[in-house]
Amino acid sequence: MTTLIQGGQVVSPSGAITADVLVDGETIAAVGAPGTLTGDETIDATGRYVLPGGIDAHTHMEMPFGGTHSVDSFETGTIAAAWGGTTTIIDFAVQAKGTSLLSTLDKWQAKADGSCAIDYGFHMIVSDVNDSSLKEMRACVDGGVGSFKMFMAYPGVFYSTDGEILRAMQQAREIGATIMMHAENGIAIDELAAQAVAAGRTDPVQHGLTRPPELEGEATSRAIRLAQVTGSPLYIVHLSAAPALAAVAEARDNGQNVFAETCPQYLYLSIEDLAKPDFEGAKFVASPPLREKSHQADLWRGLRTNDLSVVSTDHCPFCFKDQKELGRGDFRAIPNGIPGVEHRMDLLHQGVVAGEISLGRWVETCSATPARMFGLYPRKGVIAAGSDADIVVYDPSARQTLSAETHHMNVDYSAYEGFSLTGKVHTVLSRGRVVVSPDGFHGSPGHGKFLSRELNQYLN
Ligand code: URP
Ligand code: ZN
Ligand code: ZN
Ligand code: ZN
Repeated sequence: MTTLIQGGQVVSPSGAITADVLVDGETIAAVGAPGTLTGDETIDATGRYVLPGGIDAHTHMEMPFGGTHSVDSFETGTIAAAWGGTTTIIDFAVQAKGTSLLSTLDKWQAKADGSCAIDYGFHMIVSDVNDSSLKEMRACVDGGVGSFKMFMAYPGVFYSTDGEILRAMQQAREIGATIMMHAENGIAIDELAAQAVAAGRTDPVQHGLTRPPELEGEATSRAIRLAQVTGSPLYIVHLSAAPALAAVAEARDNGQNVFAETCPQYLYLSIEDLAKPDFEGAKFVASPPLREKSHQADLWRGLRTNDLSVVSTDHCPFCFKDQKELGRGDFRAIPNGIPGVEHRMDLLHQGVVAGEISLGRWVETCSATPARMFGLYPRKGVIAAGSDADIVVYDPSARQTLSAETHHMNVDYSAYEGFSLTGKVHTVLSRGRVVVSPDGFHGSPGHGKFLSRELNQYLN
């Protein structure tokens, strides 16, 4: 069975062209001038964009954190992603201290296998650096997991020392893998947080005030230097602050293989949200924290200059009731994370509408670059003959208002409640199957397949 997506503007990093797209089974068979192709069925894309499906390279479904776990399962989270035009997620398998990387991967594969509505891959969180973990990194690469996240934050949980980071980077350099870094100085932050609580300052806003931008900048610079010394590629996750961006820009100008992502929450939300009264601020607790609004212009500039090359969500949903509320009386006990997997494409489209980024840059940061960065190109991230038919037909002038009442994420609030947006997903195909159309969701858990990824295609 073939489907012709007719009359739309096919968008790539270099811009938009009017073209028809022929889908045959799970893949794209041809992209042709309007009127030159025929199919058994047609989808009318006139007046709409035809985008390569979004790739969210940073999500946390069913993630254990602070004695609880994030509330989207691989099923609910991938369904929400599909509603928002994301057709691939890369989630994180989380090594607990004292366990092996390969058993960790098995455990996460078991959670996701048969549950996902869209295709998925994994990064590996390394929290226990030792000889056998380092050795297992190579087996992870062979199993399609060639990116390893480490933490300079969260002492006692995921935190690694500089020496441990150095060792993992040496191994990454050896095997062609990329180290992803949560760059915040967790030792200094924990001290500031303890001082705040001791002085009776326990509200959610203290989460932001005790994690100042300078300590993200410092950790980012330190990670960059460790990567320089070891020759390892480095990818800074969830970059939120101007000092961290400056460090990344400097390293890139010097020719170092340093990359970075930011997230919609840092572009649209701020510490003013964290300061909302009646514990409402807890809804906005994530690490790094939401910053002063003044950082947002720098982040948009970074997206234009490619110092920020990827937009991911860091989707990590905890309900307000009973989960975020664990931190009433001590902000340190608020589970860290903000829901967002459903809204990334729409929120970044506002940047196109506002003239912050081009149409091509929208698709590049949300699909094409994450595909290359994490070894999925050209299977994903492009509309071209032979690629998977992961396609979003997007209506750029439809209006919508975001709300917990209408979103599909399994969480009881929206960080973007009441946001009025221009643009909306019309139809979504995942490997040729229509999973979202104007009349609803047509996908199913288990349709999504594990993606064994190549290494970083900017380097290897
Ligand atoms: O607050 C956050 N970002 N939670 C998810 C875990 C992480 O550090 O990415
Ligand atoms: Zn992190
Ligand atoms: Zn994360
Ligand atoms: Zn239908």
